[in-house]
Amino acid sequence: MNSSRITYTAPGKIILFGEHAVVYGYPALAIAIDRRAKCTVSSYSSDEDVVLSTNLYPGKTFLVSCKESFPSSLQAILFLIKKLIDNFQSNLPLQIDISSSIPSSSGLGSSAAVSVALTNSLSTFLGGNYSLEDVNKIAFEAEKIQHGQPSGIDNNISTYGGSILYQNGLMEQITIDDFSGFWVIANSMIERNTKDIVANVQKNYKRKQEKTEEIFHLIHSIVIRGKECIKNNKLDEIGELMKENQTLLEQLGVGHSKVTDLLLILKKNGSVGEKLTGAGVGGCVVGLFDNIKDAHSAIKNIKKKGYQAFTANYTKIGVTIDD
Ligand code: PMV
Repeated sequence: MNSSRITYTAPGKIILFGEHAVVYGYPALAIAIDRRAKCTVSSYSSDEDVVLSTNLYPGKTFLVSCKESFPSSLQAILFLIKKLIDNFQSNLPLQIDISSSIPSSSGLGSSAAVSVALTNSLSTFLGGNYSLEDVNKIAFEAEKIQHGQPSGIDNNISTYGGSILYQNGLMEQITIDDFSGFWVIANSMIERNTKDIVANVQKNYKRKQEKTEEIFHLIHSIVIRGKECIKNNKLDEIGELMKENQTLLEQLGVGHSKVTDLLLILKKNGSVGEKLTGAGVGGCVVGLFDNIKDAHSAIKNIKKKGYQAFTANYTKIGVTIDD
């Protein structure tokens, strides 16, 4: 152990284009946002092996050694704790505090951000010196526990930050320094499970393979055009591509009436484009604005209807130590 207390944070993300198709080996484009998960590891004077406290399950503290019954969504976190303790053959009593400002189960990559921050903080606390590649790889194992057959985009963007084009385990960083738009995220407050939605798309894929492949090809073309538009700050074109992508996501069966409601409010308030982000069937939507005034009035009007909404800023900062 190098220090008595180690904290790392890692960002959430929005997928701008290509969710679902990315699971089948097509590319997707994502940007990291300034909402982060935070994990602090310290030593703990108790007979318990590990005490885990987290705002992901308000009011709950888990004594990992006691094998109390854990929520299934906690399995990925427990997997990481056990794996790292085994890797470093540690028998230190540990206190692990996890908190997150990324709404969970809503399409913003909250689970991957937690896994990435936890992997980096715990491995460092136990004396390891993992590279970003190691952290990314281990977090991906946890993502598989949580999401079944994830593409890997969430752990990649959370580890490296910035903006990425991701395909089949390969990542290309995209520079978007001159971007002049404003992102608004609105949360339908319908929590959903990525694993179930991905499994459902797969069921439909098996039933209507040709049609689904056709949709994936169209999404692929949106991603490629979207990449150029985002690099060249072409806001109107990005907006049109977002709308096209939304139509195709609805054809995949991952729309939701509350999502449609939010998309309409964004549009009425002047967004240049809007779509769901992440797995869909609820969760979050993202709207693009060319001025902050419209973005703020959209947020106000979305909140009036009882939803959550906030602006999201692009961040280049992936997983990082918090002093
Ligand atoms: O809703 P999220 O944040 O879990 O994102 C899921 C994105 C999918 O493309 C639907 C699945 C994946 O693994 O890429």
